[in-house]
Amino acid sequence: MSQNRIIGELVPGLDEDTRETSISKLVKDEGSRFRLHSAVYTDQRLFDLEINRIFGLCWVYVAHEAMIPKPGNYLTTSIGTQPVIVSRDEHSQIHVLFNRCAHRGSVVCREERGHANVFRCPYHGWVFGNDGHLVGAAQRNGYPEEFLEWGLGLEEVPHVGSYRGLIFANLDQNAPPLEDRLKFIRRYIDLWCDRSPEGSVTLPEGTHRYEFPANWKLQAENGVDGYHGNYVHESFVNLLERSGERSEADTTKARNTVGSLNLSKGLPHGDGMLEREDGMLGTFDYRSQAAYTKQLEEAYGYERADDIMMQRNIFIFPNLFLFESHIRVIIPVRADKTFIDVYPTYLNGADNELNEARLYEHERFFGPSGFGAPDDIEIFVCAQTGAAVTANPWLEFSRGIHRESINEFGETVGHSTDEVPQRSFYREWRKVMDPHNSSANVKG
Ligand code: FES
Ligand SMILES: [Fe+2]
Repeated sequence: MSQNRIIGELVPGLDEDTRETSISKLVKDEGSRFRLHSAVYTDQRLFDLEINRIFGLCWVYVAHEAMIPKPGNYLTTSIGTQPVIVSRDEHSQIHVLFNRCAHRGSVVCREERGHANVFRCPYHGWVFGNDGHLVGAAQRNGYPEEFLEWGLGLEEVPHVGSYRGLIFANLDQNAPPLEDRLKFIRRYIDLWCDRSPEGSVTLPEGTHRYEFPANWKLQAENGVDGYHGNYVHESFVNLLERSGERSEADTTKARNTVGSLNLSKGLPHGDGMLEREDGMLGTFDYRSQAAYTKQLEEAYGYERADDIMMQRNIFIFPNLFLFESHIRVIIPVRADKTFIDVYPTYLNGADNELNEARLYEHERFFGPSGFGAPDDIEIFVCAQTGAAVTANPWLEFSRGIHRESINEFGETVGHSTDEVPQRSFYREWRKVMDPHNSSANVKG
């Protein structure tokens, strides 16, 4: 019996017809309507398969080069549920190493970030270089002469690549080149990096990590959901009105206007974004900064500077967000548990005052006690709780499907409140989870 069939039988609430078939049936992409089975949030067996297929076969973001600028710098993170070390060796080469001792399997590095030439396993003291090779074992005479030739280094992830400082890794031996994977989203990564007049960012030390008891895909959906702001973030909109910064009517108008500067986009490979000239909550108003605007125009020309200053929430499947102020990384833990790592950025070449004002705006909305992010987390838990209901488990992702169009770049485009990026995500999800299903299409 195929694994797909087994999953089909285990997913609660599927009707007879669906139970007999494959994972693809969990996504109903029917032209004028798009629905998702809520088991994708709750079923641990689907989660395990996501770890094997999505995080095991796709290019996954692991770190930014600016976090390990010098030889000997390292950090720890995860690819799916597998712990890894991202290190820079003495020749400045970047390695992504599985964080597991070849002796009896303990993680060898327990720190978040640091500087080390070697990692010493906490269990029995074996020592590994920051390029992964085994340097030696404690009480070495317990092993024969040829011990160091047994190939007991830290296993290296098969493929590592970086683009504009973003480091990606791929666990699949047969992975396509990173360049091919990023072909469509690359120009948005460029626009994001070029917010800096020098085209690069710095990440302050430390990570803002939080967790929530809900599925990882709820965060993937929400970061490019332009529909929820008026409701989930109503208190923030009210706060802006009370403080005299912006009237509620103006905020709502900016968010709801239909036009070419208020969009959601779906790209191939499951990527997507919100793109607005104005009205994204928690974002810094660059256009009011005359000196900065001039700096960008000098660096890139008027037209590109204008494009750079569009507000974008960019999602890169399966685990990376490039928000205006920060990099956000999704780390799935279980079907109903997720870690999120948030890294605010500084724009190299911009004034300190501007970077400070950006960080302040970031903290106010996205920070640990910010006015925005905690409200989203509350909603993730609401959605996870609701997903347990098995009576009619189908969820609607059809918003705007009747008015979306394809632009010159082959991107699917809708109003910023439409569920275009979410449909792009779940089309890719279906393709990767059920690669043999011929109905899985390539539309963004
Ligand atoms: S598990 Fe690492 S030295 Fe024993
Ligand atoms: Fe939100």
